[in-house]
Amino acid sequence: MKEVLIIYYSQTGQLFDILRNIASTISGENVNISYCEIVPKNKFPFPWTQQEFYGAFPETFLQIPAPLEAIPSEILQKKYDLVILGYTTWYLTPSIPVNSFLKSAEAKSLLGKTPVITVSASRNMWIMAQEKVKKLLVANNAKLVGNIALTDRNLNHISVITIVHWLMGGKKTKMLGIFPKPGVSDNDIEAASRFGVPIQKALYQNEYSDLQKNLLDVGAVKVDPSLIATDIRGNIVFTKWANHLIKKEGQEREKWLVYFKYYLLFAIWLIAPIVFIVFLLSYLPMYRKIQRDKAYYSSVALKQD
Ligand SMILES: Cc1cc2nc3c(=O)[nH]c(=O)nc-3n(C[C@H](O)[C@H](O)[C@H](O)COP(=O)(O)O)c2cc1C
Repeated sequence: MKEVLIIYYSQTGQLFDILRNIASTISGENVNISYCEIVPKNKFPFPWTQQEFYGAFPETFLQIPAPLEAIPSEILQKKYDLVILGYTTWYLTPSIPVNSFLKSAEAKSLLGKTPVITVSASRNMWIMAQEKVKKLLVANNAKLVGNIALTDRNLNHISVITIVHWLMGGKKTKMLGIFPKPGVSDNDIEAASRFGVPIQKALYQNEYSDLQKNLLDVGAVKVDPSLIATDIRGNIVFTKWANHLIKKEGQEREKWLVYFKYYLLFAIWLIAPIVFIVFLLSYLPMYRKIQRDKAYYSSVALKQD
């Protein structure tokens, strides 16, 4: 019997639906799939208020773990042939619940010496979050063998507007009836079942060396090169903000979080378009590097710092 564990945190259920569709084509004869939800002791709100949304930034970005409910003993007792880790990106970083899990002793015992496939469903900025997850997997002695990254395919700025409508309004609906639906499209959620086919093959053969290539052949990852620079620059600026904000308490922290919110709006609406124009202007001279970056961020390899 092949044992597969799907461990995840999904607030609205979007990521969970994707995981369930992938699992539908992994299951088969002699495959047993267990699900485990990562549950933080202090729940994050949904829908979010602005204060809570921006308030989650410093601890998320600095990857400070929060207490989690214990993982059920029946999950911990088994040895898995494959673990599928489902996470979402918060502030260019794995969400607090997933980061907390990856820094726990339970993660060491569940993931150690085990093939792991990461599945993420974010707005569109997941690349550096995946690099952080790769490092945490190495720290857990796990072996990353596949990655599936689903995103909102609409234009960057459209998806910024619609995700606010979703996460702060609580409904994944067309804003004003004219904007596209936020998040990963219904079609992409449904079609995620195709990823289970190469995963099942690798699981049966216990051979994962070609898995990421096979997943890429069915469109598991699409790296948008124009967003790589934004993600890298965003991480540099977020490091400064997060280290500043974490030292503030009470009213001071609230005041600085409001400044951070205005900075974020400024960065999204003014800096990101400039970074995009610079990207377009440097496209031809940088063509080879862009292709190398695309190949690297589509892969499961981890660069040595
Ligand atoms: C606090 C917060 C920060 C987020 N930051 C990002 C981000 O940096 N990049 C991104 O692509 N998506 C971001 N998202 C969107 C999530 O990755 C995810 O798509 C969305 O929250 C739905 O996930 P769910 O399956 O948990 O409901 C953020 C969401 C939240 C709640």
